[in-house]
Amino acid sequence: EGNKLWGGRFVGDTDPIMEKFNASIAYDQRMWDADIRGSKAYVKALEKAKLVTTDEMNQILHGLDQISEEWSKGVFVIKPGDEDIHTANERRLKELIGAPAGKLHTGRSRNDQVVTDMMLWLRDAISTLTENALQLFSCGVFCHLSQNLREIDVLFPGYTHMQRAQPIRWSHWILSHAVALSRDVERLQEIKKRVNVLPLGSGAIAGTPLDIDRELLRQELAFDGISLNSMDATGQRDSVVEFLFWASLCLTHLSKMAEDLMLYSTKEFSFITLSDAYSTGSSLMPQKKNADSLELIRSKAGRVFGRCAGFIMTLKGLPSTYNKDLQEDKEAMFDCYDTVHAVLQVTTGVMSTLQINQSVMEAALSPDMLATDLAYYLVRKGMPFREAHGVSGKAVFTAESKNVTLNQLTVEDLSAVSPLFESDVSSVWDYRSSVEQYSAPGGTAKSSVAAQVEHLRNWLKKQ
Ligand code: ARG
Repeated sequence: EGNKLWGGRFVGDTDPIMEKFNASIAYDQRMWDADIRGSKAYVKALEKAKLVTTDEMNQILHGLDQISEEWSKGVFVIKPGDEDIHTANERRLKELIGAPAGKLHTGRSRNDQVVTDMMLWLRDAISTLTENALQLFSCGVFCHLSQNLREIDVLFPGYTHMQRAQPIRWSHWILSHAVALSRDVERLQEIKKRVNVLPLGSGAIAGTPLDIDRELLRQELAFDGISLNSMDATGQRDSVVEFLFWASLCLTHLSKMAEDLMLYSTKEFSFITLSDAYSTGSSLMPQKKNADSLELIRSKAGRVFGRCAGFIMTLKGLPSTYNKDLQEDKEAMFDCYDTVHAVLQVTTGVMSTLQINQSVMEAALSPDMLATDLAYYLVRKGMPFREAHGVSGKAVFTAESKNVTLNQLTVEDLSAVSPLFESDVSSVWDYRSSVEQYSAPGGTAKSSVAAQVEHLRNWLKKQ
């Protein structure tokens, strides 16, 4: 029981079930590097405050480096009583250097230590996820948007309410998801600002009465700022919650994209072909090729949102400052990180290997999807849109009653609905000229899509 950081006032042993219940080492060992970095900075502040001698500081720094090496080589041995990563590292330091190890925790609490470790870890995690997301842009998105590729001109049916709506460019669909992803990257950078604040030096609740130079700590650990209030710093987890929410929103976007692709990859649609590398088969039905990658991408949104909701639920009703409930933050954070990390990489693979079936996509367009353009034809001849909408709707009805497609109606059929229809109405029945009308910024005309690509390319350069 010699390892406990808090044994002094206790009599007898902790119930082994309680010991296990209380321990977080099984998962918080992932923060070993952040924990050691935090301690190395802290001992420098202790030395500056003359709470350890230079010699003691060097012994501690050396010992911490040895521990770091053990972790990175995978030879660090976790012992019974290593309650969490902070306890384990301090226990090992004492084994390695003896008495001076006992000075490292002077003025520090695990309350400011754990949140410092988490902010260091999360800062790195955010950098990795940003890279993963940008990789999705450069490998998964832009491969479909190059001006030299014919892909930029491919048309297919756009849907609202999952009903056939208007002809759009395939590239316009890709861009719609890319734009959402760009906002997710920006939101992640916003979170980083709040993560990048040093909590160390807050003690357990009241701050530190010792001469700990928090500015030195900030510089050592490369934080942008110093937490303003010690009670807030040790008790807040909103940076973690923001990250969990971010993960939920980002994966909700990717889930939406995956759902579209899943539909487009069915035999009934056959708009796209998913690479075999991201598909799986059936143990029973030999012909099956299942879009498991897309289904899993879709599923993970639910998983991370569950983590987010679960942890907010834990926070709700807590009093201020540190409570052990907060220990629940780490599994949620790690799991959301691992999940988004995997999803972004798989999505990059799926998107960069996706084949599109241009002829099927374009054959799926039908004249009824031009009914809106038929109304605009009348608007251009001076009819108020509300009226034109009604007239075009009548034309759709006539075509349906005659069992012909909208473009098969004769000029006589149409002029029976409105005298404004003339022989030039035939120009409406062209999908390519239809999409080129939508040239205002944000539209599906080639010029507008090219401008969107350009905008995103410039955005990417600035990331
Ligand atoms: N393992 C703990 C956690 O993850 C570290 C902080 C413990 N602090 C305390 N006062 N018991 O939250």
